[in-house]
Amino acid sequence: MNLPSVAVLVLTLVSVCAAHLLNKPDLQNKRAAWQFKSSSRQLRPLGRPLRPLRPLRQPYQRPMQLLKQQRPRKTSQRLNQRSEGDFPLNAQAKDVKLTNSYNNLYYGPITIGTPGQKFNVSFDTGSSITWVPSIRGQRDYATVPNLFQRYNNLSSSSYKANGEAFEQSYEFGQVAGFLSQDSVMISGLKSQNQTFGEAIIIPNNMFIGDPNDGIFGLGFSNGRDEEPTVFDSLVSQGLLPAPVFSFYLNRFDSGEPDSVLTLGGTNPEYYTGDFTFAYLTVPDRWQFKIDRVQLADGARVSRSWTGHQAVIDSSTSLIVGPMEEVNALNEKLGGKRVKGSPGLFELDCSQLDNLPDVEFVVNGHKLSVSSKDYVLKILGEKWSMCLSGILGKRWARNETPFWRLGLSFMRGYYTQFDKGNRRIGFAKTKH
Ligand SMILES: *[C@@H]1O[C@H](CO)[C@@H](O)[C@H](O)[C@H]1NC(C)=O
Ligand SMILES: *[C@@H]1O[C@H](CO)[C@@H](O)[C@H](O)[C@H]1NC(C)=O
Ligand SMILES: *[C@@H]1O[C@H](CO)[C@@H](O)[C@H](O)[C@H]1NC(C)=O
Repeated sequence: MNLPSVAVLVLTLVSVCAAHLLNKPDLQNKRAAWQFKSSSRQLRPLGRPLRPLRPLRQPYQRPMQLLKQQRPRKTSQRLNQRSEGDFPLNAQAKDVKLTNSYNNLYYGPITIGTPGQKFNVSFDTGSSITWVPSIRGQRDYATVPNLFQRYNNLSSSSYKANGEAFEQSYEFGQVAGFLSQDSVMISGLKSQNQTFGEAIIIPNNMFIGDPNDGIFGLGFSNGRDEEPTVFDSLVSQGLLPAPVFSFYLNRFDSGEPDSVLTLGGTNPEYYTGDFTFAYLTVPDRWQFKIDRVQLADGARVSRSWTGHQAVIDSSTSLIVGPMEEVNALNEKLGGKRVKGSPGLFELDCSQLDNLPDVEFVVNGHKLSVSSKDYVLKILGEKWSMCLSGILGKRWARNETPFWRLGLSFMRGYYTQFDKGNRRIGFAKTKH
């Protein structure tokens, strides 16, 4: 079993458990599509799911590959050259309220077109394109399922054709379609003539169970053959006070305040203390260097744990790292390997309170993840189990392994992404 299927399985189990707890009829139907051998407690789905559950949208593979010739405007350069003082004084940071779906996905509203067509999108720091399903995907190709909202160019007076193809790989498959231009509105801010993707091919296991339609890319466009992202356009159109966005992510069903994406700055309501900053090590990703990974008792987990790179990826639910190190770490946590699922470890549910924090040391500062966030509790009808939400992945020989710190990391830290200063800031979340 490779990582994606392990991940799908983990998330399936999480959804099953959540559905069970919440007793939601629509989710219960989905639960019925999966059965597990509870006696042997083997994590093996029996039979094919009728309608697959939403997978863990774990990586982010390549940044968007646009198949295009035309030279776009170069916004990213301008972004880097501007200093804080250049930003419009009257522009204000804006909060976008996000909905938390089982700690697995956070989404919020945007509109596209005039009058605005409504979509819910999830916000992805690991990719740059913003796309929504196209009416043409359903009408002309029958490749966009009914449950999605669909953009219709005919009912927008601000639509402009572009027509170039785009495709974007995610762990759950490939999304493809063509580019169009229209006004994209988020939290009252309008990016005019914004290039976005109209998806005509969407893997049918995407976003199942949520009113989530597309993805809003908060990564980097490369400034050469890619159009500026929506965020870059809002900055260059003078609508935001700074090229910064920040996430506060709550824990599902915990009574914590609603999750919020702040565009144009940070919102002190959601964090305490100072920010620890990590400077970006590559031009086109939210990637930085970690000094080492360790457990809170100070024990280094293995010799090779120093000098790795990490990305903050809001489209990854859990934490993914190099296989050997993750194995060593999970073993130190007392984890037992789940048979047939490399990189997956079971933890003793009765010991959760005694588990140490996992610490990512950045610039000498410890960023810690508590067991509350890195353990997945799976409650079946006849059994329950705890899995480590730190998963191992093997990289190909010619690739450099890195850590992917996803939503379970971000819940503990208010995270600001600062494009102007090319850094990511972490402050303790005020829950
Ligand atoms: C977006 O999500 C919210 C919260 O789940 C929901 O109330 C709303 O109807 C959704 N909007 C669309 C356009 O699906
Ligand atoms: C606009 O949408 C209509 C209806 O789906 C489609 O037939 C037409 O080709 C679209 N226009 C462009 C330029 O893509
Ligand atoms: C968008 O396009 C319209 C029409 O071509 C133009 O009038 C307007 O100035 C453009 N807006 C921006 C912000 O580029």
